[in-house]
Amino acid sequence: MTDAEITLTVNGKAVEATVAPRMLLIHFLRDQLRLTGPHIGCDTSHCGACTVDLDGKSVKSCTVFAVQADGAEITTIEGIAAPDGTLHALQEGFREMHGLQCGFCTPGMITRAYRLLQENPDPSEDEIRAGIAGNLCRCTGYQNIVKAIQHAAAKLAEAPSQEAAE
Ligand code: FES
Ligand code: FES
Repeated sequence: MTDAEITLTVNGKAVEATVAPRMLLIHFLRDQLRLTGPHIGCDTSHCGACTVDLDGKSVKSCTVFAVQADGAEITTIEGIAAPDGTLHALQEGFREMHGLQCGFCTPGMITRAYRLLQENPDPSEDEIRAGIAGNLCRCTGYQNIVKAIQHAAAKLAEAPSQEAAE
């Protein structure tokens, strides 16, 4: 099969690229666009380390071909902070509440939580746990991740304009 031309928006920037039809979105983001925030933890769609936001949905980018993202709008962890570098409430929450240890799951976890808080701005603890069920963390036991997301939800309720770069 011949290579395909795709155009998409990644973290607010227009991107045009030529990709092999078999290239996975995670490899396109990491290897071609050099966005190495989304991680590869399993390649079998279990861990969620590769989570990105695609047209308003959390997607495991190891389960999507780059060609399927043609025309899409994608946000990765690199696009979560404000353009001036001010951390998003979720990033601040993970820092303040010690929501990470090794950090390997964190980009995917924050990107998932970013969409979760738009789906449900005031989630209960159970809803947070259900909402991040597709994202595995080997280090934290999840307790502080839940606290970090609660911290961010409270912050965003005070200043909703910080909610999204959408
Ligand atoms: S690398 Fe995609 S789910 Fe694990
Ligand atoms: S902080 Fe290590 S895997 Fe989550």
